[in-house]
Amino acid sequence: MKAVILAGGTGTRLRPLTTLLNKHMLPVGRYPMIHYAIDKMKEAGITDILLITGRATAGLFITYFGSGAEFGVSITYRIQEEAGGIAQALDLANPFIGTNEKFVLLLGDNLFEDSLTRFAEQFEKQASGAMVLLKHVPDPRRYGVPTFDESGQSIVRITEKPKMPDTSYSVTGIYFYDSSAFDLIAGLTPSERGELEITDLNNAYARLGKLTYMVLNGWWTDAGTFESLHEAAVRMMGTPPTVD
Ligand code: DAU
Repeated sequence: MKAVILAGGTGTRLRPLTTLLNKHMLPVGRYPMIHYAIDKMKEAGITDILLITGRATAGLFITYFGSGAEFGVSITYRIQEEAGGIAQALDLANPFIGTNEKFVLLLGDNLFEDSLTRFAEQFEKQASGAMVLLKHVPDPRRYGVPTFDESGQSIVRITEKPKMPDTSYSVTGIYFYDSSAFDLIAGLTPSERGELEITDLNNAYARLGKLTYMVLNGWWTDAGTFESLHEAAVRMMGTPPTVD
């Protein structure tokens, strides 16, 4: 399985820290944030990685990781010229992912305790479609929120940042896809904020009845705000063991 890691976007909620520095290069404990994303892949044995970031700071990632050899992985880089949404960034991975190949997409600002191994193994057994990882959270309104079918076995839809969430789960920025993701992205249209939304891609899978989920056991945070960045730094300073 290959991995796609996103490290683009504008990081507006972390200004002025992100005026000069890409969010994913901000310190979290002893390392820059993006270090943990690469670490999680390596730990799960996923070593063929595409890193997508913006033009202005791409050099920093290359300086830090190089080819990835020092980290025991192989990193390919692609530039997202404009922050046009997560699904638009993912579309840049099309040439990297082979036909009939499954892959994991990780948003580089997601920090978490669980190992990806059992999720990757489970997704390998799924014939086709997509799988999202969920986390029970106190305030789901900041995230994509799933609505389950009656059996609770699958997701019928995801609502992005709902005012009145159906459940208390957030859809984390850890997604597993088959290569039909790229055909489905081609059918998406920009949202009101002018972005190709990852939630719209996931909903396209849900409409086909092909969106499954698993739930994270350990802590998870999306370090996109000052509070969550601080929480991530505190947790990572202790370098907690990975949860299986
Ligand atoms: O973290 C989980 C949440 O991530 C999900 O619950 C939401 O459904 C999903 O839409 C996303 O929401 P955010 O509002 O947190 O997305 P944000 O714009 O902050 O971007 C998340 C990551 O994707 C971040 O690492 C930057 C990267 N990104 C984002 C955009 C819009 C890119 O690389 N390129 C982009 O164009």
